[in-house]
Amino acid sequence: MNIEKVGVVGCGLMGSGIAEVAAKSGFEVKVREINDDAVEAGRKRIRRSLDKAVEKEKLSAEDRDATWERLSFTTEVSDLADRDLVIEAVVEDLELKNALFGELDGRCGEHTIFASNTSSLTITDMAAATSRPDRFVGLHFFNPVPVMKLVEVVRTIATSDETFDRAFAFSKALGKVPIAAKDNSGFVVNLLLVPYMLDAIRQLERGVASVADIDTGMTLGCGYPMGPFVLCDFVGIDTLYKISEIMFDEYREERYAPPPLLRRIVAMGRYGRKTGKGFYDWSGEQPVPLPI
Ligand code: 3HC
Repeated sequence: MNIEKVGVVGCGLMGSGIAEVAAKSGFEVKVREINDDAVEAGRKRIRRSLDKAVEKEKLSAEDRDATWERLSFTTEVSDLADRDLVIEAVVEDLELKNALFGELDGRCGEHTIFASNTSSLTITDMAAATSRPDRFVGLHFFNPVPVMKLVEVVRTIATSDETFDRAFAFSKALGKVPIAAKDNSGFVVNLLLVPYMLDAIRQLERGVASVADIDTGMTLGCGYPMGPFVLCDFVGIDTLYKISEIMFDEYREERYAPPPLLRRIVAMGRYGRKTGKGFYDWSGEQPVPLPI
């Protein structure tokens, strides 16, 4: 059975990107958020991104309008009952995700595939709590979703070949490059990327160099598009903290442990670009390093 109707739950940074890319690729997409304000914020975020693509002549006005037509929004989980695929992109909280999948499980058709965009929880912990572990995969996208080409397609020991193949083909249909990953916390990319970001924070704690100099070092010295601290602000410091707690819990290895400084910055509400402050102040034209 082909995937035509897609549901996306959560319309934050990742969910809005996933919904936008799926609608642009011709899928009929229904997005669910928890209340009208969240729906409005998500709708605006997607619209802004599509308008920007038109301004930059990456998308024609006709294609934007057709994409917009393929998108709809709801606050009701039951409105996703007819979807062929539902992708969850809510916060990294297993209880919340399981409650959501429990609700979806009772409402969606037998054929519906469930997918999670989790960065660090295991797919197994979600799939095992539903009646359809064979129709459950991980679809892990990267920020910013419209730009980053990779999708990690994650299978558990219970995922059927058919489900995996359909999820893999769906990722290709989005114009992405899928890779197959086993269901271990962090999959492939975060397994390597998260310790790198945490290590940068540890080096800062040790006073090796300043935020700006470490970032300049890694961009100009290694050709990375962003230094580790700009990347932390970009991913979200609160998100990085949650991911590192989950990965540390899974592996009990020091390399995944959140450094104390990370916890302090989260406690101060400096979550990165989305709140205007993280390692940098993002309120001006150029980011300015903040006192640490
Ligand atoms: N939506 C759509 N397009 C965007 C965009 C967005 N949010 N942000 C940037 N772009 C586009 C720009 O329009 C531009 O397109 P153009 O070249 O056709 O004009 C292109 O991307 C480059 O953007 P800029 O010139 O503004 O800036 P950069 O050259 O610095 O590129 C970047 C921006 C693509 C974000 C680049 O800095 C980058 O690749 N950074 C690393 C991102 C990364 O590592 N992401 C992974 C994070 S980890 C993750 O997501 C996993 C999670 O589980 C933690």
